[in-house]
Amino acid sequence: MPEPFLEVVVEADLQRRVGELAAAIDEEYADKEPIFLGVLQGSVPFLADLVRQLRAPVEIDFLALTRFGEEGRVSIALDTAIDLTDRHVVVVEDIIDTGLTLTALHRFLEMRDVASVATVTLLDKAPRRIVDVPLEYRGFEVGDEFLLGYGLDWEGRYRNLRSLWAALDLTILKEDPDALVPLTYGRLGV
Ligand code: IMP
Ligand code: MG
Repeated sequence: MPEPFLEVVVEADLQRRVGELAAAIDEEYADKEPIFLGVLQGSVPFLADLVRQLRAPVEIDFLALTRFGEEGRVSIALDTAIDLTDRHVVVVEDIIDTGLTLTALHRFLEMRDVASVATVTLLDKAPRRIVDVPLEYRGFEVGDEFLLGYGLDWEGRYRNLRSLWAALDLTILKEDPDALVPLTYGRLGV
């Protein structure tokens, strides 16, 4: 039987790529005092690492979105604390899958009269895109495997893993959501 879980990006490779993204963003935003807007909860580890590799000062804020069903109706579950009017906003996402969430977020931000919007996503699941949505910065392009760790969850679990894992057989997680725990947690450096 093939391994049901595979470590696909190790911590050092994640951190190296995050550094490259930070350098590219620094070049574009040197004098713009941007707000890094994390989409809760998945963006938190990535955002924390990304902003600490930037050279320029930035502000940080968060919002949470709720998606209803497969048709992709999206509403704001938790709004920002900072007024975004006339600000340069860098949306920080863990993964862009169908693109429905990000498309809705763009519409919300347009209504807020922001100065500009760009998106940085750690992962781009390009083969699953339903709506085309602009992506200015992407860490890795990935296939359609279900990924876990470094922000990404299964039923709320695994977000604090330092590396990225693929679940190759989802029936195993559906039967036992903790199936990946023994392979990861408790092992120093994971
Ligand atoms: P979408 O682009 O609107 O389809 O939604 C993207 C969201 O779906 C992400 O922010 C994740 O919360 C979730 N998601 C998509 N693919 C994965 C995955 O492989 N692992 C964990 N969450 C995922
Ligand atoms: Mg998410």
